[in-house]
Amino acid sequence: MPSILFSPIRLGGVELENRIVVAPMCQYSAADGCAMDWHLAHLGMLANSGAGLVIVEATHVERHGRITHGCMGLYSDESEAALKRIIDFCRRAGRAKLGIQLAHAGRKASVQRPWEGGGPLKPGQDPWPTIGPSALPFGPGWPTPREMVADDFACVRSAFATAAQRAVRIGFDAIELHMAHGYLAHSFMSPISNQRTDQYGGSAENRIRFPREIAEAVRQVVPHTIALGARITGSDWLDGGLTAADAVFCAKTLKAAGLDYVDISSGGISPEARTPTTLGYNVDIAEQVRAIGIATRAVGLIVTAQQAEAIVSEGKADMVALARAILDDPHWAWHAARTLGTDIKRPKQYLRSAPSLWPGAAMVG
Ligand SMILES: Cc1cc2nc3c(=O)[nH]c(=O)nc-3n(C[C@H](O)[C@H](O)[C@H](O)COP(=O)(O)O)c2cc1C
Repeated sequence: MPSILFSPIRLGGVELENRIVVAPMCQYSAADGCAMDWHLAHLGMLANSGAGLVIVEATHVERHGRITHGCMGLYSDESEAALKRIIDFCRRAGRAKLGIQLAHAGRKASVQRPWEGGGPLKPGQDPWPTIGPSALPFGPGWPTPREMVADDFACVRSAFATAAQRAVRIGFDAIELHMAHGYLAHSFMSPISNQRTDQYGGSAENRIRFPREIAEAVRQVVPHTIALGARITGSDWLDGGLTAADAVFCAKTLKAAGLDYVDISSGGISPEARTPTTLGYNVDIAEQVRAIGIATRAVGLIVTAQQAEAIVSEGKADMVALARAILDDPHWAWHAARTLGTDIKRPKQYLRSAPSLWPGAAMVG
């Protein structure tokens, strides 16, 4: 039977060659939001990984929305030009479609790079004030965010729309809103972090209001030739937090706002949340979300070709995203194709690496 994993899929106006997606992965290697040579090497390699779509790491819509001093941004002409250089290079180097994750870190901003400790920035490390739905810190020892007021809502909405316009100019095929992992949009949706009593807090409709406004503002400036999606929370993995039913509600709301797909991730709202460590831990939630009729991607410990093939062929998700497994083996998709009895288009410079050419093939030159 032909592989479903290696069959094409259409997201809005964009067709992907296959259903393997490189998940967004922060590299903490930017300078004031600007992509550097590391991103040329990293994203250039992934553009050639055989995945149908590569999503550029969380790229923040304002300077204070970055997680760390090394995070990417799309809030200045300089950061736009720096990212355009990388994306133009990826187009020349590889065949993957290219997406970008637009993000605002909210109360989880102003932290050290993971290899510097990953905790909140200390005095002397140039920390900055954070914002959130309520004045509730992420955890003990974390700074208390300022509760957002009307001007903040307007600024963040417009920052998302402006960054999306920059992403359109750069030439991305897909734009993905980061609405998971405890960052700003997720922190509005979760009752753990949102204790507001105005129209942005309380009921599920109120808690999703601001994320929905962001989605609508971005959809207005992103043409339908570009796929627009969101990474959302399948579960907070905490009593009193978001559940699969909330993910279904969120996907319905975002679909109505004009989004083309959702990616189901989970966790990150509190240091106490314990994300499962079982294979494909978000897949069952993705299946429930997919039932509403929106293209759905699952992520989280998807590691083997057979597992990925089963997820899409059994209709649990339309696509899979991989992060760590692809960092470990950037040609994961090439090897998955071989396992599943198919092949993948390789760059012409690497054609002689195709296993079908190995036996007896002369290695000349
Ligand atoms: C180095 C690294 C950086 C990450 N950065 C991001 C990010 O920028 N945005 C995001 O939504 N998730 C990020 N994640 C989470 C991954 O996209 C993914 O959801 C998670 O690692 C689970 O998938 P996996 O089991 O295939 O690694 C990151 C993960 C890693 C390992």
